[in-house]
Amino acid sequence: MKHNILEICYLIGSITFIVGLKMMGNAKTARKGNLVGAVGMTIAILGTIFLHDKEISWLIYALIFGAIALGTVIGWVTAKKVQMTKMPELVSMFNGMGGACAALISIIEYNHMQHMMHNPIVNAGIVLTDSMDKLYGILTAIIAGLIIGTVSFSGSIIAYLKLNGSMAKPIRLPMYNIINTIVMVGVLVFGAYFVITGGNMMLLYLLFLAAIVYGVLFTIPIGGADMPVVISLLNSFTGLAAAFGGFLYDNKVMLTGGILVGSAGTLLTLIMCKAMNRPLSNVIFGAFGGGGATADAGSEAKGAIKDVGVTDLAILMNYSKKVVIVPGYGLAVAQAQHIIHELELLLEERGVEVKYAIHPVAGRMPGHMNVLLAESNVSYDKLVEMDDINPEFEQTDVVLVVGANDVVNPAAKSDPSSPIYGMPILEVDKAKNVIVNKRSMSAGYAGIDNLLFYDPKCSMFFGDAKKALTELVAEIKTL
Ligand code: TAP
Repeated sequence: MKHNILEICYLIGSITFIVGLKMMGNAKTARKGNLVGAVGMTIAILGTIFLHDKEISWLIYALIFGAIALGTVIGWVTAKKVQMTKMPELVSMFNGMGGACAALISIIEYNHMQHMMHNPIVNAGIVLTDSMDKLYGILTAIIAGLIIGTVSFSGSIIAYLKLNGSMAKPIRLPMYNIINTIVMVGVLVFGAYFVITGGNMMLLYLLFLAAIVYGVLFTIPIGGADMPVVISLLNSFTGLAAAFGGFLYDNKVMLTGGILVGSAGTLLTLIMCKAMNRPLSNVIFGAFGGGGATADAGSEAKGAIKDVGVTDLAILMNYSKKVVIVPGYGLAVAQAQHIIHELELLLEERGVEVKYAIHPVAGRMPGHMNVLLAESNVSYDKLVEMDDINPEFEQTDVVLVVGANDVVNPAAKSDPSSPIYGMPILEVDKAKNVIVNKRSMSAGYAGIDNLLFYDPKCSMFFGDAKKALTELVAEIKTL
């Protein structure tokens, strides 16, 4: 009876994960989708704790709920306090913890297995009831969970350090690609040897250490700009490691959850690579995006830069028919999402059509701009994806680029030597007027100069986005 109720809890958990994930595909239902998944997860966790076959002592209950309470408080407070721009760091830290959990499960379960094997009474049971194939299967799940979970753990910690600036520059050992490949093959061969021989605790800890080293070596050469892609990839690793845990415990909800995370992470990784027009191999083995923010080619003369004053800009925008706003990372840094919404409403009051052009990798994580603008209640149907807005630029009077740089850089189309060559961009240079708001001539995340700024149609509107837009709104109100 208990077992049947537990299976129903797992079924509910699995269904809510799938439904929740589907709801997260749309900005309108994303928040609820997250909640639906969380409710399913809570049901599955409580079911596991209270409907377990074995008797559990009160001390164990106290330990479990103590750990849950501690984790909940830390997770809740961190997630509440985190700024939107720091979200990738938080995701990498949480993902690292998931990988560590999967690795710990493997260590504990191997210990458990060894204990059973060395206990003559239980041992007889194992040999009688479990075929060697099954034991190999269990050992394979343990070792796969250990290796993948550990790589995800150490890789995510390095990703976290890179994103928070403690390890800003990529570290590239001489012949790092060859070294990394050798270490990776070494870890896999070690794992296979372990499964074939049955291993021992000492070897398990050595394998754990080797996987930590590989996770570090895998992540340190990759540039800061590529970290969101790496985090998403490591996220899929964690999902896979959790799925092996589900296999180990014959736990359907863990298996479903792990597979969903694994496949969603893989898809997201591929979508981001496609949006940057770079194969995954180029992200992992390439040398793009060192995380620097200096215009390497800025000193070269590319033409004159014009800047525009707030009064002229207010007049230009006020008397336009159509304005397209391009939000970027700088908008998030400046927390200018509310003032940009106020500008949009003000222009619409004056009869101007306003839309937002959303590049798939604008900002620092997938959907960054959508979430940011949703925070200030910008209507979802005003957000137009890159492929749909590009044909509209020719009929646009003013494009206002706020804190975006790489995603509007025409070098991606015209300069084969540029590191972002081939990346699909928002073709804002086709509009009648382009206004770029940023604080200086500094480069964006790819660390390269932007040819758009030298276009005769382009004028710079220098200043912090929030401050500059506040002045602009005030000026338009006087007209
Ligand atoms: P970026 O190219 O990084 O440019 C942001 C610009 O914002 C900078 O040039 C900066 O110039 C300006 N800025 C910073 N603070 C500002 C403030 N307070 N007020 C006004 N402007 C400010 O951003 P983007 O165009 O959004 O492109 C995103 C980049 O991240 C791309 O290279 C993309 O490939 C990479 N990336 C993104 C993702 C995802 S999924 N989003 C994943 C991987 C890589 P100043 O310093 O002069 O102000």
